[in-house]
Amino acid sequence: MKQDKLGFGIIGCGVISTAHLGAIANCPEAELAAVCDIDEEKGRKCAADHGNVTFYKNYLEMVKDPAVDVVCICTPSGLHADGVIAAAQAGKNVFCEKPLDISHERMCRMIEAVDKAKVKMGCVFQGRTEKNSITARQAIIDGQLGKMTLGDAFMKYYRSRAYYASAGWRGTWALDGGGALMNQGVHGIDLLMWVMNSPVERVFARMDHLVRDIEVEDTCTASLLFKNGALGTIIGTTSCNPGEPRRLELHGDRGTICISESKITRQATTTEPDGLAKDLEEKSTPDSSAKQEGISNNPANFGLYGHAFLVDDLVHAIKENREPYITGRSARRAVDLILAIYESARSGKDVQVKYGD
Ligand SMILES: NC(=O)c1ccc[n+]([C@@H]2O[C@H](COP(=O)([O-])OP(=O)(O)OC[C@H]3O[C@@H](n4cnc5c(N)ncnc54)[C@H](O)[C@@H]3O)[C@@H](O)[C@H]2O)c1
Repeated sequence: MKQDKLGFGIIGCGVISTAHLGAIANCPEAELAAVCDIDEEKGRKCAADHGNVTFYKNYLEMVKDPAVDVVCICTPSGLHADGVIAAAQAGKNVFCEKPLDISHERMCRMIEAVDKAKVKMGCVFQGRTEKNSITARQAIIDGQLGKMTLGDAFMKYYRSRAYYASAGWRGTWALDGGGALMNQGVHGIDLLMWVMNSPVERVFARMDHLVRDIEVEDTCTASLLFKNGALGTIIGTTSCNPGEPRRLELHGDRGTICISESKITRQATTTEPDGLAKDLEEKSTPDSSAKQEGISNNPANFGLYGHAFLVDDLVHAIKENREPYITGRSARRAVDLILAIYESARSGKDVQVKYGD
């Protein structure tokens, strides 16, 4: 650490590294110290473009660099655990991209390594940082919607052949860990459970790859039973052309909140036991940095706000020795649910979700 600034090292200089680079540059208590990529040309260019920081081809070397206090994991999803475990074993804090990893066992090993090393791991789910998601969650916690009856997440996206061809790991079970749910839908799935303030207990699902020549699903529907008794639906696809903004629809016997990307499009409640819920006059506006169309048909259409919020939070979690805003255990839940959805779709059975905690 130099002059109270935590040094960040990034593993993986691809699409999402730009959000990490932006968030680090935005945080007064952080600075970029190193980058690493097995693609030497890409990694060296990233290092040169960002203050001529040190370039590493091997992350096992980068995690030993004394200038690196926090390691950002921006590698393909099925490699996250390797980077996290190496960083934790070297005594470094971690900032890990979604999904945490793609198997329950790997996620448990990374959480264990972080616990054992007594370092911090902040996880990325930008949706949880948006003002309107926080408002919706609080309204549900406060009982404004009454007894929760339905929680739905619709993630109807479009991804072209060119997208899947843009990196060899995309659309593979081994490294993407799944398709429309594990890669794109995981954001909305995490957000649905977080805003509902309840995990999903049981699922029944169907999935297929209908239009893309990929191993994993491009279309999936799942019927949900939440722990709080509510029912719900997840629809996740990358096969809808041109794609729709993500929608979360949350209903209770006294109210409804609908969120389209980062904007609340309906908030209606009543305090009367048998009254009809009335719309609030002023609906929220989208966060200035969140893009309303989101990633519906453009994977690079993410704002910097979420990453900046989470980097800033992690820096403070390290300095104040507290838990980060999104812990490994809470980030693991969305992946556990997706794994249960896959199991149900393969077996044709109703499946109980196995969480690690
Ligand atoms: N939070 C978000 O909104 C968001 C958006 C996009 C991607 N992601 C996540 O970020 C991760 C990366 O996705 P991407 O789209 O940037 O992928 P990408 O293919 O564009 O970049 C991955 C990079 O990692 C490098 N790499 C692979 N193995 C490596 C290794 N062993 N050591 C060092 N570098 C290695 C590759 O050469 C590549 O440059 C994925 O887990 C993805 O789910 C998150």
